[in-house]
Amino acid sequence: MAMPESSLIGRITDIQGGCLVVTLFPAEEGFPSFVTLGQETLPIGQLGSLVEVRDRAGHLLAEVSRSLEETIERRPVQDQAAPEKRRGTVRERRLELIALGEIGKDGRLEPGVSRFPLIGAAVHLIASSRLAALLVREREGALELGRLSTRPTLKACLDPSALFGRHLAILGQTGAGKSWTLTSLLQRVVTSMPRSHIVLLDLHGEYGWRASPSAPYEGVFPDRTARHIDARELEIPYWLLTYAELVDLFIDRSDANATVQIAFLREALYSLRRQSNQHMGLERLSVDSPVYFSIEELYQKFKKANEEKLEFGKVKGPLYGAFDDFLVRFQSMYNDARYDFFLHPRKHSSSASLEGLLRDFVGLGEPKRQVTVIDLSPIPVDLRPVVSAQIGRLAFEFNYWNPRRHEFPLLLVCEEAHQYIPRDAETQYVGTRRAMERIAKEGRKYGVTLCVVSQRPTELSETVLSQCGNYLCLRISNADDQEYVRRLLPEGAKNLADMLASLRRGEVLAVGDAALLPSRILVHPPNPAPASHDAPLSRSWREGPEDLDVAEIVNRWWRQMR
Ligand SMILES: Nc1ncnc2c1ncn2[C@@H]1O[C@H](COP(=O)(O)OP(=O)(O)OP(=O)(O)O)[C@@H](O)[C@H]1O
Ligand SMILES: [Mg+2]
Repeated sequence: MAMPESSLIGRITDIQGGCLVVTLFPAEEGFPSFVTLGQETLPIGQLGSLVEVRDRAGHLLAEVSRSLEETIERRPVQDQAAPEKRRGTVRERRLELIALGEIGKDGRLEPGVSRFPLIGAAVHLIASSRLAALLVREREGALELGRLSTRPTLKACLDPSALFGRHLAILGQTGAGKSWTLTSLLQRVVTSMPRSHIVLLDLHGEYGWRASPSAPYEGVFPDRTARHIDARELEIPYWLLTYAELVDLFIDRSDANATVQIAFLREALYSLRRQSNQHMGLERLSVDSPVYFSIEELYQKFKKANEEKLEFGKVKGPLYGAFDDFLVRFQSMYNDARYDFFLHPRKHSSSASLEGLLRDFVGLGEPKRQVTVIDLSPIPVDLRPVVSAQIGRLAFEFNYWNPRRHEFPLLLVCEEAHQYIPRDAETQYVGTRRAMERIAKEGRKYGVTLCVVSQRPTELSETVLSQCGNYLCLRISNADDQEYVRRLLPEGAKNLADMLASLRRGEVLAVGDAALLPSRILVHPPNPAPASHDAPLSRSWREGPEDLDVAEIVNRWWRQMR
């Protein structure tokens, strides 16, 4: 079949809401499936492909969202010359389009549509060269995340200022390619922006690993760009906790004496923080100040009040016995070795050590690095929320008090965020939720951006998700999750949520300020890739080990060493 050479494929015949319907022109031999434009052969009406709608009022860029053929009844026509036309039916092909943006007189594409075309507007296919001129605005420092799915010859670039200027969410079902997408993105960031500052919470040790416990870390980031820190060695000491966080940790609010305990803690904490830091001459010290105090002394204060007797032991003190439960709770935590890195800090046992901790944490320690990967995998699961909350809070406080915060924007990446920034008001996670939601609400003003990565968007804090300005959505086939993500997306992109189920592995739907238009992108695979490989099950089950060193497994479990 001869292929038509004009880019004109049909006319608008129906306009409803934001949806435009094109009726395609048939050729002599029926409906052509392809058009040759110069060197290119383009499909007509492929789902997701882009077309241009032109009329005198202006030009629009639109995406094909549906393609259908109908057989329409026709009155018989008496025509001797063309007997085939006498058949009583005719086929009609139509495409439904979603208008994405307007093309101005200067050839610039503006997202959103203010003026829709009229019936009869011409619909054209677009040559790649024109599409490139419209879409690939290679602004300075643009990050090339991959290629456009609809036109793999074209690069898909994101604007980093817009991407990290507001919070980012990377969502998709397990195995869809979130960690790979994140790695690919961050690898480009660190190579193109030598002064980037990223803190990455790595829950599974995917971004950095060691061949043996004594070997140095290797990871996904280029040499000399990342520092890997074992979360136990980062040692976030108890004395950084605020009064409210200490209450969350040590006091059981359902205890009958909880109010007395809380009030006493406040008093004791304040006096200890003051006493221990007199030498620093701080005038405005509060219960929340991040200064050292001795946890043993705090314990002793409680113990003393709990046992106090007056008048030579004849009368019980006013607080006698009120702290029994508190003391038991405290003791069990204090003696639990898993809390050592937190309750028995070795490096950070004075207020002066805060500087070093902050330096390590934001990558200004020795050696200076762009990315600080905090490996949370050695930390027991139930402690991760506490540690993550502290990391989130440190990031926030650091830039809150940093006078040069706007020159030093920080990105805090939270992998598997649903695990510690959950949606329900579960008490255990109140602290992290509060810290992260504060960053979500106020972080932008202080140059702290969140990137949340999750396979369970419905379980992730709604406050955090709804504050995101950019979404990189990977495949989501669960209908509830899809519906939820649809509600999160900005108005113009909602109808694109239908395609979430049909995305391939490593294909993202990028929506938000950073992408000029909502676009599907085939993400460049990262190099090196994170250690998140799917286990090649069929091979393991055919050729896998016959026996394992179970004693070693038990030993690792005992020693809490993975
Ligand atoms: N851009 C890509 N190109 C090619 N293959 C990819 C791409 N992204 C992901 N994959 C494949 O998908 C697998 C899973 O990817 P990844 O570990 O990123 O998934 P995930 O969404 O982070 O999963 P989980 O929720 O379980 O952490 C990878 O091991 C890789 O084989
Ligand atoms: Mg992952």
